[in-house]
Amino acid sequence: TDLYAVIGNPISHSKSPLIHKGFAEATGQDLDYIAIEGPFGRFAETVDAWRDKGLRGLNITVPFKMDAYRYATRRDAAAREAGAVNCLTFDGAEAEGANYDGIGLARDIEANLATPVAGRTVLVLGTGGATRGALGPLLARGPARLTVAFRTPGKEAELRALFPEARALDFLAYADLGGEAYDLVLNATSATLSGEAPPVPLKAFARGALAYDLAYGKGLTPFLRLARAAGVTRCVDGVGMLVEQAAEAFARWRGVRPETKTMIEKITVPLV
Ligand code: ATR
Repeated sequence: TDLYAVIGNPISHSKSPLIHKGFAEATGQDLDYIAIEGPFGRFAETVDAWRDKGLRGLNITVPFKMDAYRYATRRDAAAREAGAVNCLTFDGAEAEGANYDGIGLARDIEANLATPVAGRTVLVLGTGGATRGALGPLLARGPARLTVAFRTPGKEAELRALFPEARALDFLAYADLGGEAYDLVLNATSATLSGEAPPVPLKAFARGALAYDLAYGKGLTPFLRLARAAGVTRCVDGVGMLVEQAAEAFARWRGVRPETKTMIEKITVPLV
């Protein structure tokens, strides 16, 4: 039985074991998938030890995605763009790093939520790691405009430098939003952790907009409440993104692409 795992800290809340075991059952793959609570500051030693025990692949979540980036001996384009790795595949001495978060997000929006990005206006809130991973895959779909809202001036500079050719991409302070209503508004901030919504004006949500919180399992977040207050009826969290990035990893490891709709339905908690 081939062994895979997710590593993070904390990790007890992780749905990845459930998802990957479900995929394995549905596709008839013989594998085991466990959750590892990684000790802070000892990522490499911990992963080395599990590789010695036969670990074939590893998903990486908070706070180890940058450690995983450094650990990898090779990195795919999405990982380089994101500056972070959320999936490692072990092959002898090689550790191949990939990042499926952004592609998972884009697939969820387009395939599961049937919301095209091409030609639409997209507002991404926040300038942290989640945004950095999402920008490439979203820009690749050809939005008419992709605005990133920032709280701290200067934090957008690194993102701007990553996509010098992207004419659809622009950056605005929250106070400067409001001139445009967006078809898609994505919360990629960590504001929920402090019980807040990012200070996005209600008029930034277009009629019929999709409000998407990249976090999952937190119910109706302050951001999604704000979206509802703005009259948005299509409010979702990041559960679909989670399942889609898992499907990408599973396909990389096992060579079969699992069906995702059933799993998304299974672990979706109604937002109330
Ligand atoms: P992650 O890796 O999850 O993206 P991060 O790199 O810490 O986390 O980034 C969090 C983002 O949320 C940052 O852009 C942060 O803004 P600052 O750079 O100004 O700190 C943003 N953020 C956190 N709390 C926020 C709030 N209450 N309102 C608006 N933005 C917030």
